[in-house]
Amino acid sequence: MERKRILTGDRPTGKLHLGHYVGSLANRVRLQDEYKCFFIIADLHTLTTKPEKEHIEALADNVRSAALDYLACGIDPAKSVIYLQSAVSEVIELALYFQNLITVPRLSRVPSLKEMAQGAGIEEMPFGLLGYPVLQAADILLPRAHLVPVGKDNVAHVEVTREIARRFNFLYGETFPVPEVLVSEYGSLVGLDGNAKMSKSLNNAIYLSDDERTVTKRVMSMYTDPKRVSADIPGTVEGNPVFQYHDAFNPDKAEVEELKARYRLGKVGDVEVKEKLAKALNHFLDPIRERRAKYESQSGLADEVVYDGTMKMREEARATLTIAKKAMGISAVWNRMARKADEVKKKRGAQ
Ligand code: TRP
Repeated sequence: MERKRILTGDRPTGKLHLGHYVGSLANRVRLQDEYKCFFIIADLHTLTTKPEKEHIEALADNVRSAALDYLACGIDPAKSVIYLQSAVSEVIELALYFQNLITVPRLSRVPSLKEMAQGAGIEEMPFGLLGYPVLQAADILLPRAHLVPVGKDNVAHVEVTREIARRFNFLYGETFPVPEVLVSEYGSLVGLDGNAKMSKSLNNAIYLSDDERTVTKRVMSMYTDPKRVSADIPGTVEGNPVFQYHDAFNPDKAEVEELKARYRLGKVGDVEVKEKLAKALNHFLDPIRERRAKYESQSGLADEVVYDGTMKMREEARATLTIAKKAMGISAVWNRMARKADEVKKKRGAQ
């Protein structure tokens, strides 16, 4: 039997960080043997908040950097498809059909869209940004995906996809799987400053491409329990970013438990807890750095991976559009007309 399919991906806005890893990359790497995986680099989605030419000009570099991050994390281009959204134009056509299957009030209630507008300093909702989850639904259903591993903030978008898939199937007959969402067990990773989310714009991130010194420096200046002005004051572990990172990245669970116990009693300094975290993080990042160096040393390799993946995705996209348009009956409108016109021309030619 054919393997089930995954589609997920990222907007190419720059380097990926540990939050991306915890939220979705870890699941992608883990599931790439079990599922046929499609990883989208969603450049069209960046236009919803950043349509200016300067941002478009930065896309090529950002796409390459995202592809390198994927490869560095262990995504294997021989198994999985990595592709560029804007080079598979069928997605736009599918999104247009989907626009008719969901209402404006429903989309207005998707909380992330308002946040994205606010974050980008946009006062009134652009049409395209309101349609962000509709385009995402087209991404997901274009390869007819069954599973979508994403971070917490994208769960509402996958819910929109499920509604659109059900509506399509109801109106036109069973065509698309209703995809399941897969959220990582850690949900989203807090920022270095204790802010809810690791993000580039808040400057509270550790990047997958950061070197050892940068990681150590950033960890040593992390936000921690603010009441601990000295090491002998009992500290709070719950919600403390330093311990959340230990939980997510330190494989030595016994060490983590022992540190927590001493922290609660005021018997360990923050410096020791952070030094051990920096060590664990660097240990975690080492194989990623090695793979990145290997791929980077082969010039043009990331471009070739995205090119080959996009070619494969184009075939998938054409097949899906043919199925979807046939189910809708929209292809028959033109086909009938073309057939008739052809007939008439042939007859005329024969006269
Ligand atoms: N919305 C995702 C983000 O927050 C990017 C994305 C675009 C995506 N299309 C997708 C994620 C399809 C999962 C599936 O950056």
